[in-house]
Amino acid sequence: MSQTKPVYASFRSIGAYVPEKILTNADLEKMVDTTDEWILKRTGIKERHIAAEDEYTSDMAAKACELAIERSGIAKDEIDLVICATVTPDYFNMPSTACIISDKIGIRDVQAFDISAACSGFVYLLSVAKAFIESGMKKNVLIVGAEKFSSIVDYTDRTTCILFGDGAGAAMISATSNKAEGIIDLHASADGSYADFLVTPAPGSVNPVSQKVLDEGLQYVQMKGNETFKLAVKTLTKDVKEILAKNEISADEIPHFIPHQANYRIIKAVGDALKMTEEQVVVTVGKYGNTSAASIPMALNDIWESGRLQEGELMLLDTFGGGLTWASALLPFAGKSK
Ligand SMILES: CC(C)(COP(=O)(O)OP(=O)(O)OC[C@H]1O[C@@H](n2cnc3c(N)ncnc32)[C@H](O)[C@@H]1OP(=O)(O)O)[C@@H](O)C(=O)NCCC(=O)NCCS
Repeated sequence: MSQTKPVYASFRSIGAYVPEKILTNADLEKMVDTTDEWILKRTGIKERHIAAEDEYTSDMAAKACELAIERSGIAKDEIDLVICATVTPDYFNMPSTACIISDKIGIRDVQAFDISAACSGFVYLLSVAKAFIESGMKKNVLIVGAEKFSSIVDYTDRTTCILFGDGAGAAMISATSNKAEGIIDLHASADGSYADFLVTPAPGSVNPVSQKVLDEGLQYVQMKGNETFKLAVKTLTKDVKEILAKNEISADEIPHFIPHQANYRIIKAVGDALKMTEEQVVVTVGKYGNTSAASIPMALNDIWESGRLQEGELMLLDTFGGGLTWASALLPFAGKSK
C-alpha cells in the first residue's frame, strides 16, 4: 500500500509596492490640529505613502505580486490560487480584488478570492495558504495584503488620519516535502465582541449608501484608539509568548521579529516584554505608517531588499487588528537571499 508523503507550506519569496506620494507630519499639520512632535512621540510615524487618485488597491497589489512571482522562480502557470487580504478593496461588494489582481498579472482560470481580517490579514492569508497546501489541494499560492487606506480615512479627523498609509506586499507560498522549509506553527484568532473598536460603518448591509451616510461621514474608519492600544499590547505579547513556548523556542533565537506596524509604542512594549534587542525587532512604521494587511509583508520586503533577511532564517510574525483579530506565525524564510 502506498503512503502519501507529508507536504509542508514554505515561504518562497517576498515583494512589495510603495506608492510614490509621501504625506509628512508637516503636511498633516496644515490639514488638522496636530503637530509633528505629537505624532512622533505618540506613534513614531514620520510619514506615510498615499496612492494616486487613479491608483487602486489592485494596482498596488499587482505590482507587489509581480515582484514576488519573479523572486520565487515559479512560473505564472504554476500558480493555482490567488488570495488577497484587504479592507479597502477596489469594490466593496463584487468583484473581489483578487479576481482583478489575477487579471492584471495575467493569471486566468485559477481560484481567486479575498479575505477580510483588517491588520491581521497577511497572517490570516498565510493560514489559508498553509491549509490549502497541506491538504494537497494547491501547490503554489500567491498571497497579497494590499490597502488604499486613504480611501476610507477622514482627513479632518486628527485621531485617525495621522496613522494610516497605503501600500501592498505579496508572497509566494509553495508546497515542499522538506519539513525544515515549512511553516513551523501558526495561530490565528478573533473576538467579535470588540467589533466596535475599529469599524467602517458604511457601506454595508447595516448602512447602505444614503444621504445620511454621507452627512454623518459613516464611510470613514472610526477607532477607539486608546482602548485598541491597550488590548493590542496585551494580546500581541500573549500570543507571541504562547507560540514560542509551544514550540520550545526562546525569543533570543529569533533573528527577525516582524510585528504589525501600527504604532512604535506598541512595537516597543511587545519587544521589551520579550526582551528582544533592537536588531531583532523590525520597525518600518516611521516611514509607512499603518498599512493594515500590507504592513507585515512591506516590512519583510524591506529587510529582504536590504540583505538583512537570509535564506533559512527564522521569522516571527505577530499581528492584531479590526474584528478584533490577531495572529502569529513562526516560520523559516525558504527563499533565496538577495
Ligand atoms: C491613536 C493613538 C496614537 C492615540 O494615542 P493615545 O496616547 O492613546 O492618545 P488618546 O487617544 O488618549 O488622546 C490623548 C489626547 O490627544 C489628543 N489627540 C488625538 N490625536 C491627536 C493628534 N493627531 N494630534 C494632537 N492631539 C491629538 C486627543 O484628543 C486627546 O486629547 P484630550 O486629552 O484633550 O482628550 C493610540 O491610541 C494608538 O496608536 N492606538 C492604537 C492604534 C492601532 O493600533 N490601531 C490599529 C490596530 S491594527
